[in-house]
Amino acid sequence: MDDLNRRDFLRIGSAALAAVSIEASPAARPQESGPFAAPAIETVRIGFVGIGGQGGGHVRNLLRIPGCRITAVCDIRPERTDWATRQITEAGHPTPTAYTRGPRDFERLCETEDLDLVFNATPWEWHAPIMLAAMKNGKHTATEVPAVMTIDDCWAIVDSAETHRRHCVMMENCNYDRMEMMVFNMVRQGVLGEVLHAGGGYLHDLRAIKFADDGEGLWRRAWSMKLNGNLYPTHGLGPVANCLDINRGDRFDYLVSMSGPSRGLQAWAAEHEPPDSPKRQERYVLGDVNVSLIKTARGRTIYVEHCTNLPRPYSRINLVQGTKGIFQGYPNRVYIEGRGREHQWLPATEVLEEFEHPLWKELAEQATGAGHGGMDFIEDYRLIKCLREGLPTDMNVYDAAALSAVIELSVQSAERRAARVDVPDFTRGRWKTTPPLGIVHM
Ligand SMILES: NC(=O)c1ccc[n+]([C@@H]2O[C@H](COP(=O)([O-])OP(=O)(O)OC[C@H]3O[C@@H](n4cnc5c(N)ncnc54)[C@H](O)[C@@H]3O)[C@@H](O)[C@H]2O)c1
Repeated sequence: MDDLNRRDFLRIGSAALAAVSIEASPAARPQESGPFAAPAIETVRIGFVGIGGQGGGHVRNLLRIPGCRITAVCDIRPERTDWATRQITEAGHPTPTAYTRGPRDFERLCETEDLDLVFNATPWEWHAPIMLAAMKNGKHTATEVPAVMTIDDCWAIVDSAETHRRHCVMMENCNYDRMEMMVFNMVRQGVLGEVLHAGGGYLHDLRAIKFADDGEGLWRRAWSMKLNGNLYPTHGLGPVANCLDINRGDRFDYLVSMSGPSRGLQAWAAEHEPPDSPKRQERYVLGDVNVSLIKTARGRTIYVEHCTNLPRPYSRINLVQGTKGIFQGYPNRVYIEGRGREHQWLPATEVLEEFEHPLWKELAEQATGAGHGGMDFIEDYRLIKCLREGLPTDMNVYDAAALSAVIELSVQSAERRAARVDVPDFTRGRWKTTPPLGIVHM
């Protein structure tokens, strides 16, 4: 991971924060009511930073979405900018400018290129510096998940987005998955009644990926040596936060978190790494299972789990429960009072036709074959559409901050015997008046 250690990372984070603080006192900055929208952009010019596994998928999607052009590409590995350049030119677009002069070359990209959007899919430690450089230079910005790793950086991106009046979007693709969107549609139609509880998680056996000598293996395992909490809360939380109108009528109020023992990575290293491998000397602090509970300002509860070091099938839990019924994922099932047999789940496929989200009806065909079952295409499509039409983005900087904040807050709580920690109100009170997300279309 470009040997950025936590101290370096914190230094980068605080330097960025200091830079932002000097420019303005964002708390004093007046905000318009309603979600932020920027002037419409006819053709969105994009600089793409970090073209690895996930970035490559976004590049391919963006080349199929009308009204955008990737005009600059940046990666520390020139073979990745070469790959992206080939994709772009083969799609019939002009050759993009490549930025490959090391891990801070994104700064030159942000300073010198005429761009509307800087989109990054880099390792976690780079998200904040890249987004802050983009906004400081007048560009909208989008990042892969999680947006940032610290509370300081949550505030830094909020302050910067408000100061520079730019979009800062965390690309939470799971908000666009078919079942998540169907549940959201059901919630909007009142089928589950008043929503009172939700659950989400990221339960994914990543051991082989974390120990690989390429891709995420180069940086992701390192976080398991630094932090003990929920390192990846947004896939599980994003979709259910929408169902609970988080930042748009409700907000995360406080959280408690516990981590269990750390065994999985140690055991994997002992079983799979040769005796002389330096990986065997690593010391992991990340508990294999971390569980958090979030209480919302309106008194509702959310269970969030993180488990990436143990053998298990994949799950994001995806549970939404209301006064009239409940949906639960993995496997997808639903119970709606008065329908089907009492006390028995119905397979979700039996209600899919009735409650399918319109966006999936409209875009399923185009999304076929894109990353993660098509949801990545739909999320990229929506981002470009909102920018082109001057609409508020589906996900905004307050969502990026609130969802990412769970990382540091879970660490803080877990290290203090599950002490209660307050979740900052990144909206500064505007969650009370911001309208809920609607049912969007293509
Ligand atoms: N939403 C999803 O479903 C999903 C899936 C996978 C990964 N991700 C996220 O995407 C991001 C990237 O993950 P990945 O799997 O693509 O990792 P990866 O390691 O495959 O790709 C990261 C890329 O960034 C480049 N890079 C590293 N530091 C850089 C810097 N300072 N400047 C420019 N380029 C730099 C690397 O060379 C690499 O090409 C992470 O935030 C991860 O959490 C999200």
